[in-house]
Amino acid sequence: MTQVQGISYLDLVDKYDAPLYVYDADNIKSMYDKFVNAFSVPKLKVHYACKALSNISVLKLIKSFGCGLDCVSIQELRLGLLAGFKPEDILFTPNNISEQEYDLAVQAGVNINIDNFEMLEYFGSTYPNIPVCVRINPHVMGGGNRKISVGHIGSKFGISIHQMPLLEKIIKTFDIKINGIHVHTGSDILDSDIFIHASKVILDVVDKFDSVEYVDFGSGFKVAYKQGGLQTDIEDFGQEFSNMFNEFCESCNRQLELKFEPGKYLVSHAGVFLVRANVIKRTTATTFVGVDSGLNHLIRPMFYDAYHDIINISNPNGKPKIYSVVGYICETDTFGEDRKLAEVSKGDILMIKNAGAYCYMMSSNYNSRYRPPEVMVHQGKDYLIRERESFDNIMQLQCDPDFL
Ligand SMILES: Cc1ncc(COP(=O)(O)O)c(C=O)c1O
Repeated sequence: MTQVQGISYLDLVDKYDAPLYVYDADNIKSMYDKFVNAFSVPKLKVHYACKALSNISVLKLIKSFGCGLDCVSIQELRLGLLAGFKPEDILFTPNNISEQEYDLAVQAGVNINIDNFEMLEYFGSTYPNIPVCVRINPHVMGGGNRKISVGHIGSKFGISIHQMPLLEKIIKTFDIKINGIHVHTGSDILDSDIFIHASKVILDVVDKFDSVEYVDFGSGFKVAYKQGGLQTDIEDFGQEFSNMFNEFCESCNRQLELKFEPGKYLVSHAGVFLVRANVIKRTTATTFVGVDSGLNHLIRPMFYDAYHDIINISNPNGKPKIYSVVGYICETDTFGEDRKLAEVSKGDILMIKNAGAYCYMMSSNYNSRYRPPEVMVHQGKDYLIRERESFDNIMQLQCDPDFL
């Protein structure tokens, strides 16, 4: 994997320097097509969960497929509008935000999702004519690990499935129109039976509300982070899910729209992160490759114990050796422990794979370092879609008053 659409990754590093994020636009398009084609239902709308990667060029690309957007903050929403998404194609699915932020979303005219009773009552009294979608917590443990599981009983997300009588009471009292029911149980769901189980729980809720027009089943589709690793078989899943959904619609004689909000599935594989080996350091137990990056640029391995494949693209046929790839941040920032890599020399470029989702987006200026640039390759051409930060960016918002 040394090229993207005929362009060598090493040439991209020569042009833009390392560390560098690179996204393959064609890969995003093929994942979108694969996803959409997996389902056979009369009405399907996919809303890209842009928290995964919200660069405006990526948003414009995804919009060009006819995809909608899922936003969790007013800033993501503004980015979406700027990218050209129509308000009716945007879902706003935040949690624990203020009334003021909801007011801004209402003014923007997007689809509102609510996940607690207090906000539902606020909506009922402030915007009696605006329909809302409610997020239900089905109390299932879906998600690759506890940190990314959000549909269980201890999770902060959604309205508990055990509180349906209260939900019905509030809706009736405030005369709220519920136009959608939403569920999202977590990322990296290993077992699609759990997804189907949670979905059945949600369809029982849909049954209670005649006004519901769409059911949004969130996301959680798993991608393989290792060669041969587990991933959601989207064709099988799509078939099984479509059958279940169609049967439900037929049984209640309703034409509901099916929605999903994939993030990782669409963009994870499309991205790679390229870093340069600064130091090769042998200790008694380990040979470290110290690279010009760290948890400030890609925190998933340290935050979630996430696994990302790493390869040496400068010396792909080199003798395999064991290394721990670590960052330059003054914390323990290990990208990969005891990995077999083709022999690494100082200056080599290592590729960290599956860096499209939740990688750049979780980056920071920790240790006062710059965030890296992002490049997108589209139809055989590379485009700089975000510049490398500079010292001006580090100082930009600091005020430096004369206080001493
Ligand atoms: C409400 C909601 N929808 C969609 C997603 C996207 O999930 P994934 O990236 O696993 O597809 C998330 C992820 O956190 C989410 O919280």
